[in-house]
Amino acid sequence: MFNFTYYTPTKVVFGKGAEEQIGALVKAQGCQKVLIHYGGGSAVRSGLLERIKASLDGAGVAHVELGGVVPNPRLSLVYEGIELCRKEGVDFILAVGGGSVIDSSKAIAYGLTNEGDVWDFYDHTRQATACMPVGAVLTIAAAGSEMSNSSVITKDEGGVKRGYNNDICRPKFAVMDPELTMTLPPYQTASGCTDILMHTMERYFCPEGSMEITDSLAEGLLKTVMHNAQILRDDPKNYDARAEIMWAGSLSHNGLTGNGRGDWSTHGLEHEMGGMFDVTHGAGLAAVWGSWARYVCKDCLHRFVKFAVNVMGVPNEGAPEEIAGKGIEAMEDFFRSINMPTCFSELGIAPTQEQMETMAKMCIVAGGGTKGTAKVLNVADCLKIYEMANH
Ligand code: NZQ
Ligand code: ZN
Repeated sequence: MFNFTYYTPTKVVFGKGAEEQIGALVKAQGCQKVLIHYGGGSAVRSGLLERIKASLDGAGVAHVELGGVVPNPRLSLVYEGIELCRKEGVDFILAVGGGSVIDSSKAIAYGLTNEGDVWDFYDHTRQATACMPVGAVLTIAAAGSEMSNSSVITKDEGGVKRGYNNDICRPKFAVMDPELTMTLPPYQTASGCTDILMHTMERYFCPEGSMEITDSLAEGLLKTVMHNAQILRDDPKNYDARAEIMWAGSLSHNGLTGNGRGDWSTHGLEHEMGGMFDVTHGAGLAAVWGSWARYVCKDCLHRFVKFAVNVMGVPNEGAPEEIAGKGIEAMEDFFRSINMPTCFSELGIAPTQEQMETMAKMCIVAGGGTKGTAKVLNVADCLKIYEMANH
């Protein structure tokens, strides 16, 4: 078993009507003025924003708002948010939305409490030493940012998408009402389920380090998400399935299913696709995962066999390579069953050779020289994986 640090300071308030507690939750943080940060309008249309403002008013907490966060959130809006918060004397950032809004909130929170350009942290040229408190009202189960130490921002010029991890950005609280996710378009629900699966799978395919308890939690989570994703495909208003997926989303990315291990190549590969083509994160992961898996499988064979048998229900008979291959196929069948892509054309992108070379190089730069642990990837490996997915 690896050594690890497990740190999850986020208070979770889960269930129907949880958002009514927002005023009290912010007040308990001892804060005076809140930035309500949100996306392209779903929280306005559903009436959620008005309910949140009423709850803050009821608790006597002042607020200003800034909407307009887009999927693959942009640095330019982060700068705008920092300026607004400085002018208004904001001391708490309330994210109302999904991973994009929460990540944009975390970036604003870094920018408010550190000198210099906030992009430096995402560019990994220096570390943040402080972060203004952030809270989240989650409206899509996917990224897990509501409990994670991570934030992913895209620089407008050049579409450079980069993540920055630091425990100081973990939200103070996460309000999770599964009913809020019922207005999601099916594509976003399925992409979210894929991202949740991938956050555990990225941690599962690690060549070393036995950890039975973590494997059991991971396998249980994966099976639960696959089962409920298919329920939601047919019955999007199913509260219990929404609730299972929502809680799984947080557990998948708060460190519980990793504890010292992780590969993260699929995420690294997808972040370049997201930066260059602005694809939906979960769908991008599904489109490239099978190619990654086939490329690295023989270097991490025992884990792919375990995955095939314990998660995908492949009979434990025959050569290990055969069992592992059947597991990968079964996972891709699952992606197709929830209308997720398994290659670039299904994702709706057609990168040129030059674009794939650029993405491969940038993926390795972002990884600090290599990427992954199941197989340690270099630029040529990443390029090969993109080429395999490019049909
Ligand atoms: O902007 P609005 O109008 O709210 O629409 C959003 C958006 O178009 C919509 N949506 C959200 N809740 C809704 C809703 N539509 C109807 N009803 C609702 N209740 O869904 C769309 C996607 O939202 P977004 O926040 O982009 O989704 P997600 O949570 O998947 O976040 C994706 C971002 O998170 C990053 C991804 O790379 C991507 O940039 N990630 C962040 C991580 C982290 N911080 O820990 C880890 C992840 O691996 C990931 O990289
Ligand atoms: Zn993800």
